[in-house]
Amino acid sequence: MYKLILITLFLAGTLAGQTLSVASPGNILQVTFTLEDGAPSYQVLRFGREVIRPSRLGFMLKQAPHFDRGFSLVSSDKKSVDETWIQPWGEKKDIRNHYRELRVDLAGSGKPARKMTLVFRVFDDGVGFRYEIPEQPGLNHFEIMDELSEFSFTGDHTAWWIPAYQWNRYEYLYSRTPLSAIDTVHTPLTLETANGLHLSIHEAALTDYASMTLARIDSFRLKADLVPWSDGVKVKTAAPMKTPWRTIQIADNPGDLITAYLILNLNEPNKLGDVSWVKPGKYVGIWWEMHLNTATWGSGEKHGATTENAKRYIDFAAKYGFDGVLVEGWNLGWDGDWIKNGDKFNFLTPYDDFDIKEVTRYAAEKGVRLIGHHETGGGIANYERQMGDAFAMYERLGVKAVKTGYVRHGREIERLDENGQVQLEWHHGQYMVRHYRKAVIEAAKHHIMIDAHEPIKDTGIRRTYPNMMTREGARGQEFNAWGENHGNPPEHTTILPFTRLLGGPMDFTPGIFDLLFEEARPDNRVNTTLTKQLALYVVLYSPLHMAADLPENYEARPEPFQFIRDVPTDWEDTRVLNASIGNYLTVVRKDRNSADWYLGSISDAEGRVLHAPLNFLAPGQTYLAEIYRDGPSGNWQDNPYDVEIVKMLVDNAATLTLRLAAGGGQAIRFTPATEADLERYGSATE
Ligand code: NOJ
Repeated sequence: MYKLILITLFLAGTLAGQTLSVASPGNILQVTFTLEDGAPSYQVLRFGREVIRPSRLGFMLKQAPHFDRGFSLVSSDKKSVDETWIQPWGEKKDIRNHYRELRVDLAGSGKPARKMTLVFRVFDDGVGFRYEIPEQPGLNHFEIMDELSEFSFTGDHTAWWIPAYQWNRYEYLYSRTPLSAIDTVHTPLTLETANGLHLSIHEAALTDYASMTLARIDSFRLKADLVPWSDGVKVKTAAPMKTPWRTIQIADNPGDLITAYLILNLNEPNKLGDVSWVKPGKYVGIWWEMHLNTATWGSGEKHGATTENAKRYIDFAAKYGFDGVLVEGWNLGWDGDWIKNGDKFNFLTPYDDFDIKEVTRYAAEKGVRLIGHHETGGGIANYERQMGDAFAMYERLGVKAVKTGYVRHGREIERLDENGQVQLEWHHGQYMVRHYRKAVIEAAKHHIMIDAHEPIKDTGIRRTYPNMMTREGARGQEFNAWGENHGNPPEHTTILPFTRLLGGPMDFTPGIFDLLFEEARPDNRVNTTLTKQLALYVVLYSPLHMAADLPENYEARPEPFQFIRDVPTDWEDTRVLNASIGNYLTVVRKDRNSADWYLGSISDAEGRVLHAPLNFLAPGQTYLAEIYRDGPSGNWQDNPYDVEIVKMLVDNAATLTLRLAAGGGQAIRFTPATEADLERYGSATE
C-alpha cells in the first residue's frame, strides 16, 4: 500500500509538470517553481510545510495577452551568495546578505518566441522573486495590462492592513481582520497564521513600475493589483526590463520581521559613490504651530515662517544641539486653497517677511542648518519645472535636507500629457514612482537629503540612493492635532513598526510634550503619556527625527527633554526584546558613534509589565541607566504627565522590569559608567 502511494505521487509529480526547487541557506525555507501545461507557478514551504500554496505567475500584456502560459523551460541556474555590506547610515551597520538563488528561463512556442525569466532569492527569513523580460524580437516597447502574481495562503490568517485606492493615500488606521475580510490593500501587509507564524508581503526596489497593491480574489488568495495610469495601463515599459521584487518575509516572532533586512538586500548597492555628505540628525521647526492652527502657512498676521520666528527656532536648535530647523510656508503659493492650487507654488521666492538669505546666514553662524520645504500640492509639472533650480538654490544657501510634500487626494495628482491636457493620476502609479525617483536623483546632484511626505511607499531604495532618508506614508503625529475621532488611538504606534515601518524609516515626528493643547485644539490631544513620546524616538526608526513640539513646551520640561537631546538617530545595531502586534514593543539600539545603548518600550491602551534582559550590553562593563518611565499614577487618559526619572547602575547580567502605564512607555539611555557615576549610584540595582 505504502509503495503504491509513493508510485502514484511520483507519477503525479512528473505528469503535473516540471518542478525546480531551491532551499534557503539554513534549509528553513524552500521555493518550488512549477511549469504545468506551460503555466508557471511557485510555492513556498517552511520546514517542509506550505506557507504559500501553489500560486500563479505571469502577465497580461497589451502586445501579448496571456504572458502566463504556453511556456517551456529553456534553462535554469542556481547560485549562493553570502556577503556583508555596510550601510552608510541606518538601523544596523553591517548587513548580511545570505541567500540561494534560482533563475528560470522560459520561452513560448509561438513565433516570435516570447521569453521571460523568473528569479527567486531564498533567505532563511523570507523570499523575493522578480520577473525579467529580456530583449526579444517583436517586444520592444510594451504595456503591462495586468501582473498575475498571486499569494495563495494556507488559511484565514489574521491580517493588519490599510485600504488601497482611497483618497487619503496611506493615511489610515490599520485594521485587524481575518484575511477573508480584506478587499484591496496596500503593502506591507502583515499576517499571523493560526500556528503563530508571522508573514509580511511587500516589494523591494520599486523602480519605473507601478506599485503593487493586493486584491483578494478568493477566500485566502491575493493577487498583485498594480496601480494604473489614468488610461488604465498598469506599466509602460520596454525590454529588457526587470520588475520590482515581490517579497514574503516569514518569522516565528513578530519582532523578527523588524530585524530582517531582506528588503534592503534586494535593492542595488549605493549608486551615489561618496555619500559622506549624507548625515542623519534631529531637527525642530516651524511646523506644529500650523497644525495647531496658532500659525498659518500662508501670509498674514499669523504667518509662521517669518525671519524672526525662524531665528527663534535657530537659537533654540543651537542651544540644545539640534542639527536642523525646518521652515514650512516660507515660499509663495500657500495663500488660498493650496491643496488644490499645486500649480501656484513658487519654490524660489520667499514671502516678504522671510529673508531666506539672512535666515541661512544666521543658521550657519549658529552651526545649524535650515531644512528646506517643497510642498508641491501634487502639481508635478509645476514642481518639475522648478525642481533643479530650487535644489540648486538650497545648495547655495547651505541647505542639506529638504522635506517634500504631495498633499493631494488620491487619484488627483496632475500630470500634463503630450497634448498639454491635465490627466489625473494616483500617488502610487508608475508616473509618480518615476517622479519621486527623479526628485531623489536631482536632490543628490545638489548633495541634498530627502524626507518625503505623502510619498511613494518605501521599498528599500535608500540602499541605492542613500540621500533618500525618511518619509511619512502613514498617519503620523499630525493626526493628533486635527484628525477625526481625536487623532491616533494608543495602539496605532504599536502597529506601525510591524506594518508600515517594515518598508523603511518613518518621519513620524514624535516628541509632543504639551499633550493636551486644550486652547488650540480642544477636541484633539495626543493619546499617549509623555514617556511614550520619548520611547517613540527609539521604537520608530528614522535617520531624521523631529522634536516636533514648540520650544517653550520643551523649556517647560527640561528633565524629560534631556532624553530627546541625547538620543541619536544613527545606529550600529537594533534588537527587539519583546513584541506583540498592536499590544506592545520593546526595541534596543546601539549608537553608531559611542558605546551607548538606548531602549524604547511602548504599550497600547493597556498597562503592561515587560522584562528586558540586558544581555545586549558589553560584558564586564557597568553602565549608568537613565530611565524615563511612567510614574505610579500615570496613564494616557487622566495623567499623561506623570514621568519618573531614575538613574541606576546596571550590567549585562541584569534584567529590568519595565512597567508601562496604559498608553505609556519607557525610554532608557545606557552609558558606560564613569568613576563619578560609580561613586554616586553605588552598586545598587533595582
Ligand atoms: C502634510 C505633511 O505631512 C505635513 O508634515 C506638512 O506640514 C503639510 N503637509 C504641509 O506641507
